[in-house]
Amino acid sequence: MRVKVFRYDPLRDKKPWYQEFKVDIKERGMKVLGVLDYLNTELGAGIAYRSSCRSGQCGSCAIMINNRPGLACRTPARDRMVLEPLKNFPVIRDLVVSHKSTRERMARLRPFLHRGTQRFTGEIEPISLRKTKFKELKDCIECYSCLGGCPVKESDDNYAGPTLMRLIARFELDPRDGADRLAMAVEEGLYKCTTCGKCTVVCPEGFRIHEDVIE
Ligand code: SF4
Ligand code: SF4
Ligand code: FES
Repeated sequence: MRVKVFRYDPLRDKKPWYQEFKVDIKERGMKVLGVLDYLNTELGAGIAYRSSCRSGQCGSCAIMINNRPGLACRTPARDRMVLEPLKNFPVIRDLVVSHKSTRERMARLRPFLHRGTQRFTGEIEPISLRKTKFKELKDCIECYSCLGGCPVKESDDNYAGPTLMRLIARFELDPRDGADRLAMAVEEGLYKCTTCGKCTVVCPEGFRIHEDVIE
């Protein structure tokens, strides 16, 4: 298997470059993360990348795989694959990107329940479409694949992007929340979204982001 990996160490490299490897893989069904582990442990490549749970739960291993965001621990390895850091984020080193400004922007959205002016006194319907969607959106693993795949975010940083719109919607759909989440979404660039649906296509949790969140 041949693999091409984006390399960039700001302390050593003037600009990013690509390193090609030939990997002799005998294990069937190997995932991209397994190949990265192999490159470091067997070939001493010293590639920087993130991973933790190795089972699609923690969201830390999202990278660009053949120009498409995906979880390295879930995506099957393929011959001639190109591995790059997630788009729309500053690169720290190799495949590791910085989430700092996204996290700061998330904090600005006040991601906790607000009482608003009135206390919630009603009962939450046990089974309703609203609640089902709310429950789904709560289960986001914050891998940022959707953000890495958003073409609007690529050219316009004023748009908060799909991950943050998901966060706003999660509270908007929660009947206990009293904040004006719609106004917040508009302020964060809701109308910049073209509803192209790319965020939905790449979401490993299968959220219909452009349909259930943005629209
Ligand atoms: S639907 Fe909107 S948020 Fe999703 S990728 Fe397209 S422009 Fe970005
Ligand atoms: S909405 Fe999907 S793609 Fe976006 S951060 Fe959450 S799990 Fe990842
Ligand atoms: S290592 Fe946790 S989602 Fe891939």
